[in-house]
Amino acid sequence: MATILVIDDEPGIRTTVRDILEDEGHRVLLAEDAILGLELMTTDRPDLAILDVWLPRMGGLDALAEMKRRRPELEVVVVTGHGTIDMAVRALKLGAFDFIEKPLSMDRLLTSARNALEIGELRRENRNLKQAAAKLAGVEPLIGSSPAMAEIRSLIDQAAGSDARILITGENGTGKELVARHIHRSSRRADRPFVEVNCAAIPDTLLESELFGHERGAFTDAISRRAGRFETADGGTLFLDEVADLSLAAQAKVLRVLQEMRFERLGSEKTISVDVRVVAATNKNIRAEIAAGRFREDLYFRLAVVPIHVPALRERRGDVLDLCRFFLEKAAAAGAPVREISAEGLELLCARDWQGNVRELANFMERLAVMSDERLVSGATVARVLGEGGIRRQEPELRARYGKLNLAEARELFERDYLVQKLRECAYNIPKAAEAAGISPSGLHAKVKKYGIEQER
Ligand SMILES: Nc1ncnc2c1ncn2[C@@H]1O[C@H](COP(=O)(O)OP(=O)(O)OP(=O)(O)O)[C@@H](O)[C@H]1O
Ligand SMILES: [Mg+2]
Repeated sequence: MATILVIDDEPGIRTTVRDILEDEGHRVLLAEDAILGLELMTTDRPDLAILDVWLPRMGGLDALAEMKRRRPELEVVVVTGHGTIDMAVRALKLGAFDFIEKPLSMDRLLTSARNALEIGELRRENRNLKQAAAKLAGVEPLIGSSPAMAEIRSLIDQAAGSDARILITGENGTGKELVARHIHRSSRRADRPFVEVNCAAIPDTLLESELFGHERGAFTDAISRRAGRFETADGGTLFLDEVADLSLAAQAKVLRVLQEMRFERLGSEKTISVDVRVVAATNKNIRAEIAAGRFREDLYFRLAVVPIHVPALRERRGDVLDLCRFFLEKAAAAGAPVREISAEGLELLCARDWQGNVRELANFMERLAVMSDERLVSGATVARVLGEGGIRRQEPELRARYGKLNLAEARELFERDYLVQKLRECAYNIPKAAEAAGISPSGLHAKVKKYGIEQER
């Protein structure tokens, strides 16, 4: 049994179509125009829509585009007037599954509906299989259809056929590690190890032994012989995470190995050579690190044969929608109720700057899943949960600002901040700002003097 949405402004057609589809055992939702149809599509998640192109209020083709934007996986069969072939072509281009000409043949409609449902089922299966396969390989799918993500995917594909070293840059939480794992998984080394080294977490004194291994007794704590990460990664990929945090001394050692792909364990004379593909990542601005003398330029060129930059989420807001859908599906797969986010909610999410990037968005969606029981999450709920997260995130900032003050001092500092804000909003127009703050202009004037607030330019 499937849920099928029928959008048609002719009551006669609606009931006939409903009857034959219900005879087939399906659940049928009816809408007399596209606006109602779009609403039902979001709330009731039909598997298939049958859409008339001639509709009042919003035309069928616009509705089709909107449907595909909101739920790309929804199959849509479009009903066109007789002989309007270019309409049909446009519908197919917009992603319609099929088109049927009026006058409607019920046989034709049933066949098309059956095919569409079957294809939809196959697509779903295929997607589940793909996700399961990715999970088996321990790699989450890389979500996002922005041009930036498409570019990254194509770089990953190109890199799959070579052993070129790759340096991945991008802010915290943008998905650098995930990109690194995809590079490994799509390469010929996929069934060999992916070994990760967090360069920021290893103290300098241990770095050499960590990377190159040691013989027993090589130093005080070396109670047994140990292989380093370069060795463990033989045949596979070594991921040097936070590479810009390596000390200059450590950089020199890594550089030497990258040049020769040979090294010795600590306490051993024997040279070991390995076949390792190196992928590195950093959230620092590596050019600035080089300019400041904190990162060796020669090492940079060794690492960044192919540079991949993962832009911040706010620079590819289109991905927010895809990611929200993905995280909701993930929550649903883990047992949470199936949810959708209302258009207003999505708008809020897309407008947000996401300083913590994809990681912050993922955490937010997790919170949302436990803090709301709406099937269609309203804009108000999104705003509420965003607000709560926001306060938590600002805590360190607030502590830094007010931490050492007593209440009276903190209150004054807050009053000053608040008035500066209001003044800025009103372009330093005192009567306007006073009105916005709900005090008298002379009162505001006195406070401006007291706090020594000056107009910024
Ligand atoms: N495009 C994406 N599709 C799906 N999940 C993503 C995507 N990008 C990031 N994530 C998820 O967001 C989280 C953070 O990603 P990841 O750890 O790769 O970021 P990072 O850039 O290495 O962060 P950091 O700089 O803090 O180390 C992970 O759970 C990851 O699976
Ligand atoms: Mg990381």
